[in-house]
Amino acid sequence: MNQPLHKSINEENIEILVRKFYSEVLKDSTLAPFFIAILGEDIQNDKWEEHLLLLTEFWKFVALGYDEYKGNPLRPHLLINGLTRDAFKSWLTLFYHTVDTLYIPSTGEYFKQKSKDIAENFMRKLSL
Ligand code: HEM
Repeated sequence: MNQPLHKSINEENIEILVRKFYSEVLKDSTLAPFFIAILGEDIQNDKWEEHLLLLTEFWKFVALGYDEYKGNPLRPHLLINGLTRDAFKSWLTLFYHTVDTLYIPSTGEYFKQKSKDIAENFMRKLSL
């Protein structure tokens, strides 16, 4: 049976969200090539593990105010060739879908709003 949907956001379910989202990314024909070019095809490899840990820290920073994340969210995206508004649209659609499998709607709405704001900010800065 499926796990009941989470009402509150915590460290444990953020980690599940991140791992579930990127395993779906690798199955998505639009998004996978961008990630495979940089991280490889195997989500179990060291580069992927580093990315998953970084993204877990990123979302803990955004949603819970934790201060471990020391990255620069925009920077790697400046170096990706061929990013388009459509690719961001696919990213958001898949992220929303993953969020819906884990959180009740009112909690999921938080992640959807945040990710949309961040994606819009990235697109503006990337002139997309
Ligand atoms: C089509 C859309 C996107 C693509 C193809 C994409 C791809 C990537 C790739 C390839 C990396 C670098 C991995 C590495 O070098 O280790 C990365 C890093 C990252 N991405 Fe995205 N991304 C997209 C959208 C987003 C969005 C919408 C968000 C946030 C809501 C986001 C958050 C991040 C963060 C926080 C990092 C790590 C930045 C750091 O180095 O600290 N990405 N992304």
